[in-house]
Amino acid sequence: MPENLLKGKKGIITGALDENSIAWKTALKAKEQGAKFVLTNAPIAMRMGAVKELAEECDTIVIPADATSLEDIEKLYDEAKEFLGGNFDFLLHSIGMSPNIRKGKAYGDLNYDWAMKSYDVSAISFHKMMQVAEKKDVMNEWGSILALSYIAAQRVFPFYTDMADAKALLESITRGFGYRFGKNKKVRVNTISQSPTITTAGSGIGGFDAFFNFAQSMSPLGNASAEACADYIVTMFSDLTRMVTMQNLYHDGGYSNTGISEEIMEKFADLK
Ligand SMILES: NC(=O)c1ccc[n+]([C@@H]2O[C@H](COP(=O)([O-])OP(=O)(O)OC[C@H]3O[C@@H](n4cnc5c(N)ncnc54)[C@H](O)[C@@H]3O)[C@@H](O)[C@H]2O)c1
Repeated sequence: MPENLLKGKKGIITGALDENSIAWKTALKAKEQGAKFVLTNAPIAMRMGAVKELAEECDTIVIPADATSLEDIEKLYDEAKEFLGGNFDFLLHSIGMSPNIRKGKAYGDLNYDWAMKSYDVSAISFHKMMQVAEKKDVMNEWGSILALSYIAAQRVFPFYTDMADAKALLESITRGFGYRFGKNKKVRVNTISQSPTITTAGSGIGGFDAFFNFAQSMSPLGNASAEACADYIVTMFSDLTRMVTMQNLYHDGGYSNTGISEEIMEKFADLK
């Protein structure tokens, strides 16, 4: 049921890798709601090909950009402005990657070069996207900038290792830049803290099935799907949420405020 919530709005969506990606679902919803946008992903992800099909479906183009490269981000903004015919109303950062997680390194045995890569790709790239946006003055007033986070920024999830630190940094950057962008340009900056979701980045984490199922049993509404996350992102890009900024917004079916559920109690009831 299209409602044209994003009619006339222009933006950039990062991170659509395949049809499971949160960014992929967001692109489809944003299109349905009347937005015009450019898709972007790391050059290596683009070689995998699927994102070009999404671009066709959304009547748009894909501009390769490594989000850790200032040069790539500058080029991305220049080309996106030209294609869209003006400045941006929204930016989505939907990017995460940890070489330590990929290679099964425990938190007490981190490879620090890889940890720096995790922080750069998953958090500092958000700062870079906003710094370049501010310097190039590419955001329209009352625009909305969003990144995706996870509750491991607040609580320990042992297998999330250096990504937990990256998410804590991401949320801090959100507050820091949210203040600047609010003052300078009336642009809001937030993170959405999403339930465990079956995507390439999500299911690459050790023990993912266990904590997906645990969160499902703990959340009164169940885990939020990628599609539901895309709906929330669209509302955060719309004019209906103009005064929300510098927030970490839980989109988790109630998980973050639940101490214990009946389902979990039952599993432990007979243990002696
Ligand atoms: N899946 C989950 O359980 C979950 C939960 C909470 C938050 N998140 C966050 O949601 C966001 C999107 O992840 P997803 O679950 O849709 O997985 P995904 O694997 O589909 O998306 C991650 C994207 O990051 C891109 N990327 C990696 N390195 C990059 C770089 N250097 N430059 C540009 N792009 C790069 C990948 O190509 C990929 O498209 C991430 O920030 C992730 O941490 C995911």
